Amino acid sequence: MKKLAVITSGGDAPGMNAALFGVVKAAARHDIEVFGCVNGYIGIIKEEFMLLTEAELFKVIDVGGTILGTQRFPEFAEKEIQTKAVDILKKHEIDGLAVIGGDGSYHGARALSQLGFPVAAIPGTIDNDIALTDITLGFHTAVENAVDAIDKVKTSAASHKHIFGIEVMGRQASDIAIWAGLATAADGIIGTNNDWNLEKVLKGIKMSAGKSQIYILAEGAISADQFKAEIESHSEYKVHPLVLGHIQRGGKPSVTDRIMGIKFGEQSVNTLLEGRTGVCLAVQNNQIVELELDKVLHASNNKPFLPFVSQNI
Ligand code: F6P
Repeated sequence: MKKLAVITSGGDAPGMNAALFGVVKAAARHDIEVFGCVNGYIGIIKEEFMLLTEAELFKVIDVGGTILGTQRFPEFAEKEIQTKAVDILKKHEIDGLAVIGGDGSYHGARALSQLGFPVAAIPGTIDNDIALTDITLGFHTAVENAVDAIDKVKTSAASHKHIFGIEVMGRQASDIAIWAGLATAADGIIGTNNDWNLEKVLKGIKMSAGKSQIYILAEGAISADQFKAEIESHSEYKVHPLVLGHIQRGGKPSVTDRIMGIKFGEQSVNTLLEGRTGVCLAVQNNQIVELELDKVLHASNNKPFLPFVSQNI
């Protein structure tokens, strides 16, 4: 094995640069060159490759986002484009590919491996919505970012006795909402598990009337604007809507995400070197393990250690 490629794909997640560092570091031990594909899968198709060095990546372990860039590329679901990607990788004498990304990126990785190209995937998404891993890269930082922002809102809300509906990211997953809501002792957490119940929320708001109140809303359950509209059209209470948005993906990766990123990156190279493909890495019981991509993509996402409190209104 002489050349590997790596992509960061889907939404950026804090810790992706640390994972790139891990890939390059492990590859250097075996005299393997690593090429980063610019902006994810589309970089393969456009043949935009950049040689990555350990010295360069060392400088960005503590930087959020991804220095490779990332872009959503739905066309990669097409077999013709996937075949073209394999042909291009082979033309550039690339022996294997590490994919760092979420669910959509995993589908692309599985397709390439089914076409016979060696692929190892790393779960990189703030949403924590990849099955069979206890945690995904970037989730820890995103929760810290959300909690930091909510803590700040709380002091203002308390001064004015305001009611806030704060929308957090997660696509169809509630993990950021649940963790951030618990850590800030929110008055309510509306998750995606059919948690939205107007009557219950109104009851809660009424019981705490006269005090500031914070409701954390998983974006897949209800938006901050919808929450405001529902409460205000069914009661006399006023709601301040707030969308935390991309603040959650930004800033420095936490220590957990840095270490996890480096370890995932290193292991992805070892996996490819040892000839295993069509796999993704996961954390189970504090260990990095390898799982079949196909198995993970068919499994349902039930995180074992998620506190069972999504209905705490
Ligand atoms: O998957 C990560 C994520 O941040 C989701 O939580 C969110 O729904 C989505 O990406 C936002 O995507 P974009 O940055 O493309 O608007």
